[in-house]
Amino acid sequence: MNRRLGVLISGRGSNLQAIIDAVAAGRLQATIAVVIANTADAGGLARARRAGIETVVLEHTAYPSRETYDQALVAELRRCDVGLVCLAGFMRLLSGTFVEAFPNRILNIHPSLLPAFAGLHGQDQAWRHGVKIAGATVHVVTPELDAGPIVLQAAVPVEDVDTADTLAARILVEEHRIYPAAIGIVLDGGWRIDGRRFVRS
Ligand code: GRF
Repeated sequence: MNRRLGVLISGRGSNLQAIIDAVAAGRLQATIAVVIANTADAGGLARARRAGIETVVLEHTAYPSRETYDQALVAELRRCDVGLVCLAGFMRLLSGTFVEAFPNRILNIHPSLLPAFAGLHGQDQAWRHGVKIAGATVHVVTPELDAGPIVLQAAVPVEDVDTADTLAARILVEEHRIYPAAIGIVLDGGWRIDGRRFVRS
């Protein structure tokens, strides 16, 4: 499989940093071909530049529709010969067109044990719900939000003294561990999608 990654961000980019670090340390055999942000404010852009990675800002506000925006995203990813797209805090819904352009070749990291607490602020949802175990999920992206086949999950305990913030910080440590690991698993191949199960053979 083409081991060139396109990482899409909207914010601080700590998961991007974990991927950069894993590549630099030789724990992940991949090349980050491009980092694309939908806003010039994304803090992660500086992380990419520091690592010498090409950055592209595609402001979604400059496009008349989701469809045209997604076409522009796909064009940039193709220009950079990206084989696997990694959403890392990319706060945009993706159209079916985008998902179909990279079938089973888009991953997302979500800060909850899916299918619990999909959508925004998964950590906060879990804390408010009062669960005793929370966690993070890396999944293959399908047109339905936060619902694709699960590649890896990690669980963390929720302590009585936790706030939503301390819980989010504990989950984030696991995000940074499992995202590069899941990318490696997907790039290595030898897996299939069976129903909604991601199965390694
Ligand atoms: C992470 O919590 C991730 O799970 C979610 O968005 C957040 C992005 O954080 N999808 P960062 O930009 O990677 O620091």
